[in-house]
Amino acid sequence: MRTKEDVLQALKGIKEPEWNKSMVELNLIRDIMLSDNNISLTVVTLKDLRTEAKENIQKEITTCIEQHFHQSVQNVHLRFRTMTSYERTEIETRMEKSSSQDYSAASLNNEATPLLKRTDVTFIAIASGKGGVGKSTVTVNLAVALARRGKKVGIIDADIYGFSIPDMMGIETKPKIMNNTILPVEHQGVKVISMGFFVEDNSPVIWRGPMLGKMLGQFFTDVAWGEIDYLLLDLPPGTGDIALDVHQMLPECKEIIVTTPHPTASYVAARAGSMAKQTNHEIMGIIENMSYLACHTCGTKDYVFGRGGGTALADQLQTKLLAQIPLGAPDNHPSEPDYSPSIYKADSTVGKLYLDIADQIIQ
Ligand SMILES: Nc1ncnc2c1ncn2[C@@H]1O[C@H](COP(=O)(O)OP(=O)(O)OP(=O)(O)O)[C@@H](O)[C@H]1O
Ligand SMILES: [Mg+2]
Repeated sequence: MRTKEDVLQALKGIKEPEWNKSMVELNLIRDIMLSDNNISLTVVTLKDLRTEAKENIQKEITTCIEQHFHQSVQNVHLRFRTMTSYERTEIETRMEKSSSQDYSAASLNNEATPLLKRTDVTFIAIASGKGGVGKSTVTVNLAVALARRGKKVGIIDADIYGFSIPDMMGIETKPKIMNNTILPVEHQGVKVISMGFFVEDNSPVIWRGPMLGKMLGQFFTDVAWGEIDYLLLDLPPGTGDIALDVHQMLPECKEIIVTTPHPTASYVAARAGSMAKQTNHEIMGIIENMSYLACHTCGTKDYVFGRGGGTALADQLQTKLLAQIPLGAPDNHPSEPDYSPSIYKADSTVGKLYLDIADQIIQ
C-alpha cells in the first residue's frame, strides 16, 4: 500500500532548477492524494511555468514514481501553483539559515585547530609608531589587493577603541551569530571583523586593558573564519597594550610597518619595528604612505611631507621598502555598487601599487 511518505520518498531526488535543491525538502510538493492507481499532487513553482516546462516536470515525476514503485501508475495528475512572495521569502530565509549553518559547521571543522595555531594562515599585522599615518588605509587596500589576486583574506580590526575598518570599507551590515560563533561580514571579497559591529550608534568603547585583550581574543576564537590564506590585523597606533597582546598571542605574526616620508616620522616608527624584532616577529617590509603629491597634468612629484623616511627605516630595520604611496583620495562615489570610501580601484595608480605589494607578499 502506497502512502504519501512513499510518494515523497520517490520524488526526493527532483530538484528545483533555480535553487538546485530537492523540491521535497523545500516543501514544494503538496496536497498528495492517492487512490487505486491514481496519484494527484500540487507542485509549487518559483515562477509561472510555460507548458513545456510543466510537461517536463510531469514526465520527471511520473518516471520517478514508476521507478520507485516498480509498476506503472495509470494516472499522475499534477496541479501547478506559483508561490506567493511571502512563501518565497520564507523559503529563502530558511535556505540562508541552513547554508550558514553548513558554513559555520565547515568553518568550525576547519578550526578544530584554533585560528591562532593554524599553519595554513599567514598573519600580517599592520603597525606604525604613531597615529594617522595610514595603517587602516593600507590594511583595507592590501586586503582587497590580495583578494583581487585570488587569495582568501580576512581583516581583524584590532583597533578596539578607534575602529575604522567598517566605515572605510563602506560596510553597512552586521555579522550574523550562529550557534555562538560570529560570521564575519564579507565585503569586496574580504572577511571583516571589527569592534565597530558591536557598538551601538558609534558610542565610545570604555573598557580597559584586560577587557580589550579579551575582546581581541574573541575575534580569534569565536569567529568562524573558514578558509583563509591571509589574515591582516589593523593595529592601533603605537606600542601599547593591544600591540603587545598581538605580539604575544601570535608568535608567528609577520609585520608591515607604515610610515610617512618625514625622517622624524620614521624615527617614531622604528620603535614599533624594534618591538617586532624583540618579539621575533618577521618584518615583511615598510610602506611609506603620503610620499608625495603628483601633479595632475605633468606628473611632477612634490614631496610635501619631506623625503627619505621609508628608505631610512627600511635600512635601520634591515628590511625592504615595499612601496611609496602618493597622496590622493580614491576616486569613488556613493552611487557605485559595493561602494567603499577608502579603497582604490584596481586600475588606478594607487590601486596598482597595492597589487604590486600584494604580489611581493605572495612571493
Ligand atoms: N595616501 C593617502 N592620501 C591621502 N589621504 C590618505 C592617504 N592615506 C591615508 N589617508 C587619509 O589619512 C587619514 C588617516 O589614515 P588612516 O585612518 O588610514 O590612518 P591610521 O594610521 O589608521 O590612523 P589611526 O592611527 O588613527 O588608526 C584618513 O583620513 C585617510 O583617508
Ligand atoms: Mg587606523
